[in-house]
Amino acid sequence: MATRKLLLLPGDGIGPETMAEVRKLIGFMNESHGAGFEIEEGLVGGSAYDAHGKSISEEDMAKADAADAVLFGAVGGPKWDSVAYDVRPEAGLLRLRKDMELFANLRPAICYPALSDASSLKKDVIEGLDILIVRELTGGVYFGEPKEIIDLGNGQKRGIDTQVYDTYEIERIAGVAFELARTRQNKVTSMEKRNVMKSGVLWNEVVTRTHAEKYSDVALDHMLADAGGMQLVRWPKQFDVIVCDNLFGDMLSDVAAMLTGSLGMLPSASFGAPDGKTGMRKALYEPVHGSAPDISGKGLANPIAMIASFAMCLRYSFDMVKEAEMLEKAIADVLENGLRTTDIAAPHAETVSTSEMGDAVLERFRSLTA
Ligand code: NAD
Ligand code: IPM
Ligand code: MN
Repeated sequence: MATRKLLLLPGDGIGPETMAEVRKLIGFMNESHGAGFEIEEGLVGGSAYDAHGKSISEEDMAKADAADAVLFGAVGGPKWDSVAYDVRPEAGLLRLRKDMELFANLRPAICYPALSDASSLKKDVIEGLDILIVRELTGGVYFGEPKEIIDLGNGQKRGIDTQVYDTYEIERIAGVAFELARTRQNKVTSMEKRNVMKSGVLWNEVVTRTHAEKYSDVALDHMLADAGGMQLVRWPKQFDVIVCDNLFGDMLSDVAAMLTGSLGMLPSASFGAPDGKTGMRKALYEPVHGSAPDISGKGLANPIAMIASFAMCLRYSFDMVKEAEMLEKAIADVLENGLRTTDIAAPHAETVSTSEMGDAVLERFRSLTA
């Protein structure tokens, strides 16, 4: 059995708590199915800063580069609010994305049948929901230069962030969205703000041209991103694949998370271009949520987003499609059986802890794969 090299970066806050539940699944798959996962661990975010004054070390960057896939928990928290900007916890995550060239971030928002009552929206609005946000992840205002605060010398300062997109960056993310749409409902909605942003004008132009040249079999719509946010809450089932820039994708995916019941439910996968020789893509898998300082250390975190991110890893990095489907079914079954962490529970309903939810998913996965 070939070795499958995984780097685990649990990070801060609830990151290590939810990663512990994935570690149980990996242990089980190695012991009972000879899955051959070889685990390395590293530090990222505040925990890396506390250990060596950087949000990720060169050694851990090298481990990420050598791994077949990286599993990432979450970073950040009030403890590091006043550290220097370039070594803040979030910088470790941004460096991983940029240096590994993980330009395509897939954020699926699926409403599990058992949770169609857990959303803040009406049941018929979200029942059966299955949409995919394809977020550009290595460009835009996150990385554009200049990015600085300058002193204007008159008691005023100026904060500057720069939104930049080149043609090739838009072409490749549009290509990912169209390819994925072909495996789903064959529909892409591109969101930008061409009415106020030059990068939005270029985005719209390049997506339209890419569609006409290579993907005219896929239905394409364009929406201004603000109206798109409204439509996402009004009638989300009109969407199949949404493609957008880095910042809009960040915001729209948190909104989409609430359609599924909780931020604790949304996984993600980030990919680079396929390697010319092996065809393998560099990949990092992480939940959409953050370190949740308000609940960390209390056993309250929902581990499903992290576990579902591992399912994406099985499917996309290791071609273990059957196992990925079983794991997703195990999640669905456990929810069907009524298990709820507090974030997805009705007021005053009985709830389970992070590890109880993780154990239940593992047990169900064990019997499904027996
Ligand atoms: P957050 O996602 O950490 O939390 C938002 C809300 O959702 C909180 O009320 C939290 O308790 C809840 N929540 C999130 N995940 C949950 C889970 N698994 N189970 C149950 N409830 C959950 O966002 P925030 O509070 O705005 O940010 C906190 C820190 O996390 C910041 O430092 C931010 O920069 C960082 N952050 C990191 C990532 C990441 O590492 N990928 C993503 C987003 C935010
Ligand atoms: C996310 C997070 C990150 C982002 C932060 C932590 C850098 O919010 O992955 O959604 O803004 O991309
Ligand atoms: Mn975010």
